[in-house]
Amino acid sequence: MTARPQFDSIAEAEQRAARMLPPFLFDLLNNGGERNLTRDHNVAAFDEVSFRPHVGVQLGPRSMSTKFFDAECSLPVLIAPTGGQRLVHPMAEIAVARAARRSGSICVLSMDATYAATEVAREADGTLWQQIYMKWGRDAAVARIEDAAAAGCAALVMTVDLAAFPRPRALPAVNLDAATLARVGGQFVTHPRWARRFAVDQWRRRSLGVENTMLGTRPDNYSVTWEEMAWLRNLWSGPIVVKGVLRPDDAKRAVDSGANAVVVSNHGGKGLDSARPTLKALGPIVDAVADAVPVLIDGGIRRGGDVVKALALGAQATLIGRPFVWGLAVDGEEGVVEVLELLRHSIDRTLANLGCSSTADLDRSYLDVPSNWPRT
Ligand SMILES: Cc1cc2nc3c(=O)[nH]c(=O)nc-3n(C[C@H](O)[C@H](O)[C@H](O)COP(=O)(O)O)c2cc1C
Repeated sequence: MTARPQFDSIAEAEQRAARMLPPFLFDLLNNGGERNLTRDHNVAAFDEVSFRPHVGVQLGPRSMSTKFFDAECSLPVLIAPTGGQRLVHPMAEIAVARAARRSGSICVLSMDATYAATEVAREADGTLWQQIYMKWGRDAAVARIEDAAAAGCAALVMTVDLAAFPRPRALPAVNLDAATLARVGGQFVTHPRWARRFAVDQWRRRSLGVENTMLGTRPDNYSVTWEEMAWLRNLWSGPIVVKGVLRPDDAKRAVDSGANAVVVSNHGGKGLDSARPTLKALGPIVDAVADAVPVLIDGGIRRGGDVVKALALGAQATLIGRPFVWGLAVDGEEGVVEVLELLRHSIDRTLANLGCSSTADLDRSYLDVPSNWPRT
């Protein structure tokens, strides 16, 4: 970490990122679908749950470590797959993977990553998982899986939500064609630090002959079927994590199809607007499948207390998307480490005030969950 912390909260990191990045890019990253309801309800659901702390407890040093598929994880906060990181910072996934390793976390690389998994693995030696979309077809998935295997990725994460993208105008801004430049070019002038960083990186990419597409053309159909899960299960003998379930019946279906873990997720609200918030979906999914496979959750996690609430409801770990992207925007690898370490300290303080020495001892008795939350 840099000597002087650059922000004291994820909210402050977000404000700093909003100043650093041009608005077209900040909005592209931050926006959810349509009215942003799912994105915002994910965050709000954490505030509906309150803690029931124990007092008079002799506390030892707090422990929050966990294990996934034989890999130690000293922080129950993983890096969620997010595409297009090189628009945010030239070191992109390499910086993020290095930060994850320094903080004892796991980095999930997006299929829309801007560096290949093998490049990331060469530069950062922590645990990597590779996320797979089926939207580009099976051949593209196979190519990515081969790269993931060569990079030593410990697991594949198959994203099953987001069958369609609700904001068709978002992508042209990324392609930076003439029409887009005419629309947003002024923002390069008003955000010179980002613009300089971006321009130098663009020049470097061209001189290296790297293809100048960040995310490519967006296909119309993102849908994934359980047949594709069966196909993937045949192809990859290592662990498969299914990301994007909100219903217990789908979680069971994922486990029946060979998933070794599930992530309760609604893509950070980028798809279906007004979907069930992930924290509300967690309990019923834990009840349905947690005795068979680990359950993870993402969406709306902004402080250590949110992580502790998710773990007390039965999640084995959490993932963050936007928060680490804000750290990356502010200060690359150091900024991501700061975000992860902020969360570590906040989890530690929450455990202490809860009268609990270890995340392994958390259960629902530490929480007041509203009685009208879904049970199925
Ligand atoms: C900018 C951005 C890009 C994303 N790209 C992907 C992706 O490529 N693959 C994927 O499975 N999920 C993607 N997601 C969803 C995240 O993995 C994660 O589910 C979500 O961000 C969690 O919510 P949070 O941002 O509130 O933490 C993306 C999310 C954001 C914000």
